[in-house]
Amino acid sequence: MSKVPSQQDNETMQFFETFKKLKRLQLRFFEPSLGVLGFFFVTVCVIFCFFYLDYRAVIVKGYTVPGTSESFMWLRINGSGKNKRVEFLEEEGNGCDLFDGDWVWDEKYPLYQSKDCRFLDQGFRCSENGRPDSFYTKWRWQPKHCNLPRFDGKMMLEKLRNKRLVFAGDSIGRNQWESFLCMLSSAVPNKDSIYEVNGNPITKHKGFLVFMFKDYNCTVEYYRSPFLVLQSRPPAGSPQKVRLTLKLDRMDWNSVKWRTADVLVLNMGHWWNYEKTIRGGSYFQVGEEVKLEMGVEDAYRRSLETVVNWIKLEVNTSKTRVFFRTFAPVHFRGGDWRTGGHCHLETLPELGSSLVPSETWAQFKIVTDVFSSHSNQVAEFRILNVTAMSARRKDGHSSLYYQGSNPAPLHRQDCSHWCLPGVPDSWNELLYALFLKRGATQTFNQSSYKAQV
Ligand SMILES: *[C@@H]1O[C@H](CO)[C@@H](O)[C@H](O)[C@H]1NC(C)=O
Ligand SMILES: *[C@@H]1O[C@H](CO)[C@@H](O)[C@H](O)[C@H]1NC(C)=O
Ligand SMILES: *[C@@H]1O[C@H](CO)[C@@H](O)[C@H](O)[C@H]1NC(C)=O
Ligand SMILES: *[C@@H]1O[C@H](CO)[C@@H](O)[C@H](O)[C@H]1NC(C)=O
Ligand SMILES: *[C@@H]1O[C@H](CO)[C@@H](O)[C@H](O)[C@H]1NC(C)=O
Repeated sequence: MSKVPSQQDNETMQFFETFKKLKRLQLRFFEPSLGVLGFFFVTVCVIFCFFYLDYRAVIVKGYTVPGTSESFMWLRINGSGKNKRVEFLEEEGNGCDLFDGDWVWDEKYPLYQSKDCRFLDQGFRCSENGRPDSFYTKWRWQPKHCNLPRFDGKMMLEKLRNKRLVFAGDSIGRNQWESFLCMLSSAVPNKDSIYEVNGNPITKHKGFLVFMFKDYNCTVEYYRSPFLVLQSRPPAGSPQKVRLTLKLDRMDWNSVKWRTADVLVLNMGHWWNYEKTIRGGSYFQVGEEVKLEMGVEDAYRRSLETVVNWIKLEVNTSKTRVFFRTFAPVHFRGGDWRTGGHCHLETLPELGSSLVPSETWAQFKIVTDVFSSHSNQVAEFRILNVTAMSARRKDGHSSLYYQGSNPAPLHRQDCSHWCLPGVPDSWNELLYALFLKRGATQTFNQSSYKAQV
């Protein structure tokens, strides 16, 4: 029990230290205006200036980091108020890179409250689980060269009428799926009209869950498949240590259900490491042959090729919009999940990504390689390139607040899943924008699209 108060003291101290630092910054940068606004400004607007100045501090830091200084030019030129960027959904927004941008403070966020959403695992309900700060819910992703449409759950449901939206992947995919359920359901007054078609509750252990939005005859589905390729028993006569094999050239059995979806969001990554494969007796297999010597990176690359080929050959991309979400980084400081790594003191995003383990970028590079080598054939297919943007959000993880009213012990933190509301909402806003954009260019011409909006 004694740990918890000292914990909070630490955090309070950190808050004041940061604040002092910012005050110094403020004196340096805003001396004239401080004289005018004086004591009133500092005391009454403590919280406001904390964020405002911290944001400015981030910007100032941005100028000094070589290579990233460009990214804040628009703020300096246009001021932090009204900006002149084009709308992504308009024609001028064509070609805007949504994944190149910044996190900006937005009082209108979050898009929902976890207590109002019954489609959330306990593990993601950070504030209900006692997380004291809520700053992490207030950041909006702002692309550098265009504006995103504000998420409109009703419009999304209208677009999904009589359709199936499928998420397949690991538990971070589940994180994103639950975020999407909350974002959509906040637009539905009658919550009883949303239900799991087999009557299953949201629990961590189901292989798949299918939520029906009855008024729209649309389903939003999740299939647990951390490798996307098939994991099953090894061929007869394999060495004893081979408990399971990952068939790198075959898709998961459930892929027959994914391929007929209208929108398909795939992801994988967090299970492609030594611990979750070979160490647990799960080796790699190609054809009939168990590849005892094959390393995880090669296997990952091979399985991605399988996924891309499956999209090309098995998925009707005129019907199904396929997105592949890239790896979402973890932010363990001072260890990993087994060795007491932590992230519970993080309350603000950062610019650099120094905390992100290099394997994140190794995986990211493999994804980029594989997809760019197929870019001609899989034009119908988008990468949800969230790695870099999420790398800055060390403040967004469940940390100690993933298990009901008692915070977890300090040495058992979750710095890989994300609090909801939180970072995955932003991934879904990007998904929403890309979905509308493609709908706009495919189904309507520009003027009829505008009329519809
Ligand atoms: C605002 O920023 C945009 C994007 O960088 C730039 O194209 C535009 O010229 C700026 N507007 C003004 C008024 O400086
Ligand atoms: C993903 O986004 C990052 C940062 O904007 C960029 O450097 C990278 O090239 C992008 N990758 C892909 C495959 O789009
Ligand atoms: C509901 O949507 C499915 C496709 O997901 C479609 O096959 C079915 O006909 C729709 N039902 C009604 C009543 O529109
Ligand atoms: C692919 O989907 C489109 C649009 O739904 C449909 O018209 C077409 O017949 C489908 N092609 C195949 C081979 O099923
Ligand atoms: C676009 O749609 C509008 C309204 O439906 C129509 O009047 C116009 O002719 C269309 N333009 C083209 C180029 O198809």
